[in-house]
Amino acid sequence: MSAIPMQLLSDNATVGPDGNLSVGGCSIAEIAAEYGTPVFVYDEAHLRARCQQAVAAFGHQQVVYATKAFLCKAMARLVYDEGLLLDVASGGELAVVLAAGVPANVCTLHGNNKSMTELREAITAGVRHIIVDSFDELDRLDVLAAEQLGPVPKVLLRITPGVSAHTHEFIATGQDDSKFGFNLGNGDALKAVDRARRSTSVELVGVHCHIGSNVFEASSFAKAAAVMADFAVPLDLPELVLGGGLGVAYIEGEEAPTIAHWGNVLLDACQALGVRSKVSVEPGRAIAAAAAMTVYSVGTVKHIPGVRTYISVDGGMSDNPRPVLYGSGYESFLPRAVTDERAMTARLVGKHCESGDVLSFAAQLPADTAVGDLLAMPVTGAYGHSMGSNYNKITRPPVVFAANGDARLVVRRETYDDLLRADIG
Ligand code: LLP
Repeated sequence: MSAIPMQLLSDNATVGPDGNLSVGGCSIAEIAAEYGTPVFVYDEAHLRARCQQAVAAFGHQQVVYATKAFLCKAMARLVYDEGLLLDVASGGELAVVLAAGVPANVCTLHGNNKSMTELREAITAGVRHIIVDSFDELDRLDVLAAEQLGPVPKVLLRITPGVSAHTHEFIATGQDDSKFGFNLGNGDALKAVDRARRSTSVELVGVHCHIGSNVFEASSFAKAAAVMADFAVPLDLPELVLGGGLGVAYIEGEEAPTIAHWGNVLLDACQALGVRSKVSVEPGRAIAAAAAMTVYSVGTVKHIPGVRTYISVDGGMSDNPRPVLYGSGYESFLPRAVTDERAMTARLVGKHCESGDVLSFAAQLPADTAVGDLLAMPVTGAYGHSMGSNYNKITRPPVVFAANGDARLVVRRETYDDLLRADIG
């Protein structure tokens, strides 16, 4: 098997004459020595470049970063600095964004089951938009209107357009059989528009859809845009949000549309369909995924003759549950030997107490991979850290932003005290 394809690494990953990897001018070996492993290493300039590409493709204030993909205070500030709006899907995400010093009026609140508390917090803080998902949520907003928490909230209605995206069923959301949004096909979407227009508890400013995540076919987006345009044009509302969902390449041979291509497909479709509303999108993965790699240490190498080789690293399903949840594929390589052939096939596993704790079912690695080696897994910048857990009371890894030769710790490694902070005995 070949060496790791460089296009799976972040923009500013470079290999020195000795074959060793640096990101943003920082040696991966030095980052690992300083902060320990596992560690998430983000290429900060790559994150900024993706934000800039998205703004160039869609326009200022027309890109809303989906914070669920990866959020910490430094990330919230970075996307805000780059002129993006921020989509939060819970009171917790909103709290982290506000703690970063990002103003509420660039935040939009999502969720299919927002609590009264979350809605109250969002209205009190003064979020830009609430994306309303159900008739029950409209009922809650009626109740909250009586509390006079602030100006009447501006809302968009999440529409389920009946478009199936080609992706894993757990992350497809546009089809009729979905917990999300008001179905277009059965008339609920129109009923919701009528109700919101007549309501004095909300100000209806637009409609929204999101067909799914990690979508590779630009045509799925064009299909959703067409269905939404049919619905939205006669409504003549100021805002149309077409969600996130642009896929990224995780493994050798995969190819995803660029952000620029996604922009062309969506905006051309909207123009052709006569959309006059401001069109926005909500990328998460396309901004963050390829910006980071997780660096682990190899702890055991177990050869079972005639069966397979297991390589265990010092993390696992608690820092990346995606292989277990969705069967997602990832590549792996040794930062000390980036250009080496990866001739050995092994099952790459974590340190959790179950056999399902797999990071890669058939990892390709150099044949001399040994205990003590650093092992890197690229494209872990989205839905890795954010979906992490403390299973087996493993402490969550730190996050380092590397840029211009400076490796900056933005989230420290958790300690045993962190594990006990909420445990009041
Ligand atoms: N907007 C809405 C309303 C969403 O629900 C999502 C993702 C996004 C935007 C951002 O989608 P993206 O551009 O990142 O595809 N945990 C799964 C992904 C779940 C996505 C949930 N919603 C995974 O690891 O693949």
